[in-house]
Amino acid sequence: MAEDSATQGTTLFSPYRMGKFNLSHRVVLAPMTRCRALNGIPRPALTDYYTQRSTDGGFLITEGTLISSTAAGFPHVPGIYNEEQVEAWKSVVDAVHAKGGIIFCQLWHVGRASHQVYQPGGGLPISSTSVPISNRWRILKPDGSYGTYPKPRALETYEILDVVEHYRRAALNAIRAGFDGIEIHGAHGYLIDQFLKDGINDRTDEYGGSMENRCKFLMQVVRAVVEAIGAERVGVRISPAIDHLDATDSDPLGLGLAVVDRLNKIQVDLSSKLSYLHVTQPRYTAYGQTESGRPGSEEEEAQLMRTLRKAFQGTFMCSGGFTRELGMQVVAEGDADLVSYGRFFISNPDLVLRFRINAPLTKYIRKTFYTQDPVVGYTDYPFLNKGSAGQRPLSRL
Ligand SMILES: Cc1cc2nc3c(=O)[nH]c(=O)nc-3n(C[C@H](O)[C@H](O)[C@H](O)COP(=O)(O)O)c2cc1C
Repeated sequence: MAEDSATQGTTLFSPYRMGKFNLSHRVVLAPMTRCRALNGIPRPALTDYYTQRSTDGGFLITEGTLISSTAAGFPHVPGIYNEEQVEAWKSVVDAVHAKGGIIFCQLWHVGRASHQVYQPGGGLPISSTSVPISNRWRILKPDGSYGTYPKPRALETYEILDVVEHYRRAALNAIRAGFDGIEIHGAHGYLIDQFLKDGINDRTDEYGGSMENRCKFLMQVVRAVVEAIGAERVGVRISPAIDHLDATDSDPLGLGLAVVDRLNKIQVDLSSKLSYLHVTQPRYTAYGQTESGRPGSEEEEAQLMRTLRKAFQGTFMCSGGFTRELGMQVVAEGDADLVSYGRFFISNPDLVLRFRINAPLTKYIRKTFYTQDPVVGYTDYPFLNKGSAGQRPLSRL
């Protein structure tokens, strides 16, 4: 935790220096899948969406972006593994930069949270395990229907470094597209979390069993990406206490601390700081599905976040169920440097202004979170300032 003297009087609107980036405030756009890409390629609607949410010196993280052709588990999600995708992202990034924003691309592989319909040649999704996600969860398919998750194929040991390589290449592609950096999605029950959590990882090789082994895949990804693009351009997201998609662990705090220790060590080894650690708070579970699904006291959850914050030697970002007030509190108390906002940012493109002047917020409409219309529920939420440039009709496809 930062010293009291350093955080006294700190608000969501205090500037923050995140490594080489000068942020003018601490209200971050959380990574959010919005299913508006076309055949894996960002289209102009994405430029509109991100530009609307950009502010001068504001920090944005993109939706989960696919690192390879086997990474998808949602319809109409963009990728960053081929030239066409890299080219298309350039327009998004340039537009955000033109407004003074700083933008990282979130690198995503869903692992077993996929289905044959998303896999090249109709193959099985890959994972740390061959046990499927339980029937408690449903996968959204490209035709809009929901299905059960199929049995995945556990990666052979020798295949794992190929996946690490996909992260490395995707990170390099992101930099070529002009992104300021990348965030490794190690949260919410997707591929990396499927290695981290002992409720899923049932491997008997060097990637399973001990804490060291379960952390190995994430650490290999971090090292590979950091070596490729530099630590100051790499953020890491984890959610040790979130059980989304059956991602349970017998010791969430122990796991979180194990990840933090290893990230700290990488920073020491490389004499360079990662951009940030981003942790999703347990009170936010199955995003878009429930507001809170996990029993457990607020205090217990806050304690977990505080412990990780104190242990991590670098910028700490939290996410999950934050209001303006809770965000103000967490930065004032030094429990986080930055707060990322998801759902409120969906329905309030000018969230930063609204928070600044404490204006009322527009309610989000859950049923359009994952629909494909390039405008409705995406770029048509109102701005407070009717004369703002963001108010122009957004109808381009
Ligand atoms: C529609 C939607 C899509 C999301 N997609 C992602 C994603 O792609 N990657 C990710 O790490 N988190 C994702 N999240 C989680 C958000 O980043 C955020 O942590 C969560 O919404 C909690 O913040 P909030 O309470 O401010 O909404 C998503 C959330 C929502 C609502």
